[in-house]
Amino acid sequence: MTDVLTADDPLYEELYDVRREAEAVGNFIDVDVMPRLHALRAQAPVHKGRVRDLLGLPGHDRHARAVGRQHYTALTYEACEAGFRDPETFSNRVQGHDNPAGEITMGILEMDPPMHRAYRRTIQPKFLMPEALDWWRRRTIDGIIERLIERMARGDRADLNLDFCARIPVYTITTAIGLDGDDALRFRHAYLNSTSSSRNVTMADRIANGRIVEDLLLGLIAARRAEPQDDLISFLLQSRLMVPGQEPRPLTDREIMTHAKLVMVAGGGTSWRQMGITLFALLTHRDQFAAVKADRALLDDAIEEGLRWNPTAPYFYRMVMRDVEFHGHHIPEGSVLELCLGPANRDPARWDHPDAFDIHRPRLTNMAFGLGTHRCLGMNVARVEIARGITALMDNFPDLRLDPDAPAPFMTGGLEQQGVSGLPVLLR
Ligand code: HEM
Repeated sequence: MTDVLTADDPLYEELYDVRREAEAVGNFIDVDVMPRLHALRAQAPVHKGRVRDLLGLPGHDRHARAVGRQHYTALTYEACEAGFRDPETFSNRVQGHDNPAGEITMGILEMDPPMHRAYRRTIQPKFLMPEALDWWRRRTIDGIIERLIERMARGDRADLNLDFCARIPVYTITTAIGLDGDDALRFRHAYLNSTSSSRNVTMADRIANGRIVEDLLLGLIAARRAEPQDDLISFLLQSRLMVPGQEPRPLTDREIMTHAKLVMVAGGGTSWRQMGITLFALLTHRDQFAAVKADRALLDDAIEEGLRWNPTAPYFYRMVMRDVEFHGHHIPEGSVLELCLGPANRDPARWDHPDAFDIHRPRLTNMAFGLGTHRCLGMNVARVEIARGITALMDNFPDLRLDPDAPAPFMTGGLEQQGVSGLPVLLR
């Protein structure tokens, strides 16, 4: 059997190219919008209009449910925090895909309390410390990293984006769910092609790919029901849904499948891009890289600073559920509030010289994982993946540095998801 983790599979290049991903979704931009965002924030914490229009960028409709509505854009830390922490006024129901069956397509991401809490509790124990540290590391992350290091150690050069960052999260999530690691790329490819965000995929392809995803997951659920194992699907089969005022009950197969799909999509791309951003920051700030190598206790600071400096997913939407006075605006019910957590992470009211990557700055909570009700379920897993990955690179390749003969890496992608163009390095 081929080993997809370490094989030279062209699907890695197809699926893990930040620019190509943005072009396929239709939101690629090639300008640095941060100076303009600083100027807008200096004028007002909240603006009427879509952030894209305020920045003069071409339109891109991320959520079908947001189309045709009045938009407002929150740019300061304070305004974004208020949006994240008030789910009754600012609802996540904007995130789902409408469909004839009225099905919840994005699982807990599109639910509001109290249903959100009930469903989140059926999966959350597998993501809380110390499970994130022990179970995920033991079950998946450490073994994956070891095999990738072994593969890279056979040569003198690598592209850490494709050879390392891309491979860890997709394999971690796929095997944690219970699928065979060799299904990892096939599953991600099919899943991305089944969602409506890819422009280059026909409706027939979408339906066919949606079937591949569902067949794989429903087959896995049936197999684990017959014979449980140490994985997320077996855990979800044991979980009980406790909705206030209702009898506790097991999750249905579709509910388990929805959880699994969300975890696959939310965890398969974000950690890849964020690990690349952290490595990019360190490799281009050699003094800070040396400081982390010498004192590994600084690695957590470096990861948090990378998340603050350039979070891979910098914009999230909310649906406004009632008329509300918000930072100088009367926002009518039915509007959409854009929470610009990327710009909020560079709010000069909270951080000095906010555009600089500086691992020595005082650590304050940043918004890369959101805040409040929907705060990232997988944030501890992501932190462990990134920390274990960078530790292994530093341990095994003490002379790791950018390849001076290769094109210099830079930040790229779309407004809604960003990452690094590549990470060509010399290993020794
Ligand atoms: C560095 C990597 C990651 C970043 C920057 C990130 C970011 C985020 C953000 C900002 C949210 C909140 C969305 C909102 O408020 O509407 C979120 C939610 C979520 N994330 Fe992550 N994420 C990362 C990694 C992961 C991983 C590895 C997993 C799974 C293993 C994951 C699973 C989820 C899930 C399930 C939710 C929905 C939580 C809810 O609605 O209650 N994420 N993530």
